[in-house]
Amino acid sequence: MDIAEEQREHWTRVYAGNPHMYGDAPSEVARHAGAVFAERGARSVLELGAGHGRDALWLAGQGFPVTATDFSAPGLEQLDEAAAGLGRADSVRTVLHDARDPLPFADGSFDGVMAHMLLCMALSTDRIRALVGEIGRVLRPGGALVYSVRHTGDAHYGQGVSHGDDIYEHGGFAVHFFPRALVDELAQGWALQEVHAFEEGELPRRLWRVTQTRPVSGEQAATS
Ligand SMILES: C[S@@+](CC[C@H](N)C(=O)[O-])C[C@H]1O[C@@H](n2cnc3c(N)ncnc32)[C@H](O)[C@@H]1O
Repeated sequence: MDIAEEQREHWTRVYAGNPHMYGDAPSEVARHAGAVFAERGARSVLELGAGHGRDALWLAGQGFPVTATDFSAPGLEQLDEAAAGLGRADSVRTVLHDARDPLPFADGSFDGVMAHMLLCMALSTDRIRALVGEIGRVLRPGGALVYSVRHTGDAHYGQGVSHGDDIYEHGGFAVHFFPRALVDELAQGWALQEVHAFEEGELPRRLWRVTQTRPVSGEQAATS
């Protein structure tokens, strides 16, 4: 079975067996994304790999209508229930979607996209490139992408079961550890605003938070 298909079944079991496993508090990445989106006058937001929605629910609470996707049905069901409980059901739409497939949204339909630890899942480098291309398509010009990924400085990089292409599996969770060159490549044609190193959790996981924006027409894409 394809590693991503195994991972879909794995995440489905994980969320079914550990409801709300990431807690209710938003991640630091979501807080940063919310500030970036507000500063840029964003309205509609897309979250990819939303899980049970700690970040989607928080962004909705900040006034952004949010579309949240994941390939795990139990995670999104928990998100829908929580949104209804918080009275935010009108502000959060969930869409079951596998990030290996094209995004089921029209060109330029979002002002902001966030993805906390989705691009570093069991996706090949080619799939990641295609996904970032799709994100660029559904973002309006001037829109912002905020994503985070575990990187090659993480303690689990090179450990556990190797699936090739910098993907290693530990305790059933497969992670694509990003080299810095991949971050720079994915920003080509965008303006790279920030690559911020941070840690999360007990391992700790070592991550980069990346902010990049789509140039408005006539503006030169630049990286910094
Ligand atoms: C590390 S968890 C992070 C969840 C959420 N962003 C958070 O921080 O609370 C990664 C998420 O990506 C989802 N995921 C992994 N591979 C995916 C794929 N190919 N398509 C869609 N979702 C995927 C998993 O189901 C899981 O919810």
